[in-house]
Amino acid sequence: MPIANGFLSPSQFADEYFFELQVAFCHECGMVQLVEQVPPEKMFHENYAFFSSTSAGMAIHFKELADLIMRDYLKSSDPFVVEIGSNDGITLQHIAGAGLRHLGIEPSLNVAQAAMDKGVQTLCNFFDEDLSREILSEHGQADVFLGSNVMCHIPDLPSVFAGIKILLKPNGVLIFEDPYLGDIVEKTSYDQIYDERVFYFALKSISHLGEQHGLEVVDLMPQGVHGGSMRYEVAHKGARTVSATVARQLAKEETLGLHKPDTYRRFRHNIERSRDDLMGLLHDLSQQGKRVVGYGATSKSTTVTNYCGITPDLVEFISDTTPIKQGKFSPGAHIPVRPYEEFVADYPDFALLFAWNHAAEIMAKEENFRRAGGQWLVYVPRVKVLK
Ligand code: TYD
Repeated sequence: MPIANGFLSPSQFADEYFFELQVAFCHECGMVQLVEQVPPEKMFHENYAFFSSTSAGMAIHFKELADLIMRDYLKSSDPFVVEIGSNDGITLQHIAGAGLRHLGIEPSLNVAQAAMDKGVQTLCNFFDEDLSREILSEHGQADVFLGSNVMCHIPDLPSVFAGIKILLKPNGVLIFEDPYLGDIVEKTSYDQIYDERVFYFALKSISHLGEQHGLEVVDLMPQGVHGGSMRYEVAHKGARTVSATVARQLAKEETLGLHKPDTYRRFRHNIERSRDDLMGLLHDLSQQGKRVVGYGATSKSTTVTNYCGITPDLVEFISDTTPIKQGKFSPGAHIPVRPYEEFVADYPDFALLFAWNHAAEIMAKEENFRRAGGQWLVYVPRVKVLK
């Protein structure tokens, strides 16, 4: 597999980086993770292609998170909020806007700059235990420590949790969310698996990780974003009441079979079937002379196009609203990425919904495509054409 967000130009094709995407499951702690890990500097840098604020739905989701934090978690006299992977400031901009002390930590300079332009105080760096000591001496301990879709990206998670242990006030909380393993397995959404995501969390693996650092999960809440995520609330062990939801979710994971190898054998079988169905359909459409365009040059699409073997003769181009991706080619499969305006100017017969996690937002926006006779092709949870 190539780098999922490594959109490139033809002059870079010859030197494109590839690695082996293999996923493993730990029988003891239930963690699911990549075997070979791509060095973080290859993925998160000054040309990082993912800007959080490209989706209106995500902007609403993170405003609601900021509002929740300001309402329920910042009771001290001069509260301090730290966020890792703060990207373009999609959450912290609201905390900054309210005049509250905050610090974003974001290793990709271009997105960090976008946050700073919005008035979000941002440190361009990777967070670890050493950095937590520096932050502690400069700013003191945090009431709330945030991380959205970033914890699962960090190979040295023990160092991050050790840093959080140091930086969190005695009654402080770590609130983080990532795609949930239960959703990935249930929906056969194998496209959630790519280089940036080293880990695929469930409550069991997170509880085990927390325990090793004197932290515990006190609550959790499923989230509809990113195709099914889980928000975990973690505190110093014994500092807060543990919600009954925690025991309930552990039991649910047991029922789902998330801790059994057989579940992953079935997952693999389902993935292979999904690939065969999708390729069968794309070949049929191609033989019928139909035009198919990809919608959303997501990281996830890199897994789908490369795993299934989707080539530009099957999917003409991928439409995307992110300027940095436009005019480039998709990683590995080298399908052209074109501005959204080109999709609208000449609707294809079928749009392959790579940004399926934003389906509601996109379907509402694309009524004209449908009215013009366009049809959606989806592959999660099953391959089908939406009539
Ligand atoms: P997303 O599904 O959030 O991400 P990931 O990269 O984590 O798989 O990415 C959404 C991509 O889809 C992003 O490149 C912007 C693009 N997009 C559109 O082109 N149009 C849209 O209406 C939406 C919601 C997203």
